[in-house]
Order: sequence, then structure tokens, then C-alpha cells
Amino acid sequence: MKGQFPLDKFLNKETPFYYYDTALLRQTLQTIRAEAGKHDNFSVHYAVKANANPKLLNIISMSGLGADCVSGGEIQAAVNAGFAADKIVYAGVGKSDWEINLGLDKNILCFNVESIPELEVINELAARKNKTANIAFRINPDVGAHTHANITTGLAENKFGISMNDMEKAIEAAAQMEHVRFTGLHFHIGSQILDMGDFEALCNRINNLQQQLETHHISVENINVGGGLGVDYLHPNRVPIPNFKAYFDTYAQHLKLRPGQKLHFELGRAVVAQCGSLITRTLYIKQGTHKQFAIVDAGMSDLIRPALYHAFHKIENLSSDGSCETYDVVGPICESSDVFAKAVDLNKTHRGDCIAIRSAGAYGESMACQYNCRKLPQGYITEEL
Ligand code: LLP
Repeated sequence: MKGQFPLDKFLNKETPFYYYDTALLRQTLQTIRAEAGKHDNFSVHYAVKANANPKLLNIISMSGLGADCVSGGEIQAAVNAGFAADKIVYAGVGKSDWEINLGLDKNILCFNVESIPELEVINELAARKNKTANIAFRINPDVGAHTHANITTGLAENKFGISMNDMEKAIEAAAQMEHVRFTGLHFHIGSQILDMGDFEALCNRINNLQQQLETHHISVENINVGGGLGVDYLHPNRVPIPNFKAYFDTYAQHLKLRPGQKLHFELGRAVVAQCGSLITRTLYIKQGTHKQFAIVDAGMSDLIRPALYHAFHKIENLSSDGSCETYDVVGPICESSDVFAKAVDLNKTHRGDCIAIRSAGAYGESMACQYNCRKLPQGYITEEL
């Protein structure tokens, strides 16, 4: 056992694999339940895109959270894992007909609609089934977030949502259609956000929009503020559970909910990032001209975040307490961007050592691919080791 890792149980496992600490996941879910539960009418959905491993989905669904899905595949995975259909919301700029039909057949809570052409298709497909789809409009609030450019979504230049100027036109269009029912507004400004001021800015924007709608006698039953709460990638041991209290309190304090209005959240990363690590083994130590490389058996096909966003993940050698040396930790894939970290200090590593790449529970396994004809990594939870 090193830190919280059952190293002895890793020894007979083929690497690389994801390891999920379910005690931490349960504690995180418990914290979410306690903190959100302090506020009337707060409803939390888990953003399935962060990690759709069925074993995690089961634990999360049992904790009572709803699900936020972005594809038919995710709707199916959520239903299979026991999420109640009436707690499933479905967003995405490009919903295919079969995906909309699946949502209609399962009677999901809400379609978050991103354009008027999409609204027309949902209305038509619902009419064929003689159903009425609950819809919310995803509004692009043009609020920036202090995070990586690839993961901000709420700026006017992004492809997401309907612009604020077109909001009323969209609501009026829905009112003319028989098979959709307008039930709310949906927003999402970005991901890995640690500055509560960004969420406060979203609250202020929503307050103004609500006022504007009320002058036109339009009322809204549901407000969905998306997700985005970040985690501490630098200190996974010191801050294993994000500050959910500050997050929910920010909305309670700044968003002016109307009586009876329900507030929905779609949290992904904050739920699962810290409970997951990618476990890999050192294959070779290679001396370069000015540096040494630790070549490990995981690659960017298993965890793409460092290559795609230059994301930082803390790396630890679980097998050694030897004095620290500096390495570039790289994978076996034929791409120069297949690098997990440059110039990091690790306890001296040898061939066969187990290495943990931390905070990899969100957007790790779910973004893995088979580039170079590699196998997809397995995911193990504590109980099954
Ligand atoms: N709701 C909507 C509409 C979203 O687009 C997203 C994430 C979420 C909720 C969940 O956001 P979270 O709470 O996890 O921040 N692959 C990137 C992150 C992409 C996020 C996309 N949208 C990464 O690895 O950092």
C-alpha cells in the first residue's frame, strides 16, 4: 500500500488500467448531496461524458443524482445504470433523429435545444409518436470563464447554444408548436472553473435575462446552469473533494430564483476526477542528450488530456521511495505529443515500477481511443481488485 493505493493488488494486473477509489467517490457524492440539499429546489445531474464506466455510473445513480447526456449512447448507458428517465437531460448541438427518438421513447425529463431547426425536428418526431417533448433552450450567455480556451463554451464565438438576441424568438416559435413544451433555460460557460466569480457573472446574466422575459410575460420553470466546477490537479491528496459548499452557495446567493423555480446543475469533472488514476508501468529509462525519459506503457490513447490541452496531472512512482530524479514521462505512441509531463520529479524509477497518473477519473477513460491499434484501458474499482 502506498498512499491510498492497494499496490499489492495491482501487481498481477495488466497495465495500463484505470483505478477508481470508490470510497472517495462515495464521499464526494455524499458531500454533493449534503451541500446541494441545503438549498430548496437544487437538482444535480451527473455529466456522463466525464466518465461512462458502468461501475461508476451505477454508484452515481444509486446516490440519487440525475444524468446529463450528450448522445443516444449516453442516454442508453444512463438508463442501463439505473438513472431514472425523468431525471435525464439531453444536450448537444447535433442530435441525430435516432437519438431524439430514443429520448422520446424513454420519456426523458428534457431536451436542451440548441437551435430552431433542431426544435422543428424534435416537434416533428414527437408528433409522429403523438408525444410532447419537454424542451429547454440552451442560451449562449456570452460569459467568459478563466480556463483553457478549448474548454470554454459560453462565449458568443463558440458553436454552442442560441444567442441571447434570439432567445425570445425561439420561445415564441416553441409556443406555436404542438408537440414541444417550453420548460426552461439552459446555460454552461466552460469547464475546470475555480473562480467563483465566473459563476457569479453567469448568475447576473441570468437575472437580467429573466427580467427581460418577465416584461414579455414569459415565465420559466427550470433554470439549468450546466457544470464546470474544477478540481485541484496540483494537490489531489490535499484537496480530494472540490469545494461544493462554495459552489452551491454562490448560486444560492447570486441567482434570483422565482418561487417554485427549480435549479439544475450538470457536474462531471468535480464528481469523478479525483477518484481515478491511470496506472501504468515503466518500460524503459532512456538517457537523452540533456534529459532522461521514463517511457511508460500508457499513452495518449489512454489519457489524451496532456496532449490535447497541455493539462497537468500529478505523477507518482508507487513502487519506489528512492531519491527523486527528473524525467520526461512519455508514452509509446508514434506522436511527439505523446508526453504526460516534462521535467517532473519522481522517486527513481526502474523497469516494472507502477506509476500513477492522478486526477484522471474525468475525461480519461471516456476519451480513450484505439490509435495505433492499442487496446482500450480497463477500469477497475476498489471492490473488484
Ligand atoms: N454541461 C454541458 C453542457 C457541458 O458541455 C459540459 C462539459 C458539462 C455540463 C460538464 O462539465 P464539467 O462539470 O465536467 O466541467 N474534455 C475536457 C472537458 C470538456 C467539457 C465539455 N463539456 C477536459 O478533459 O478537460
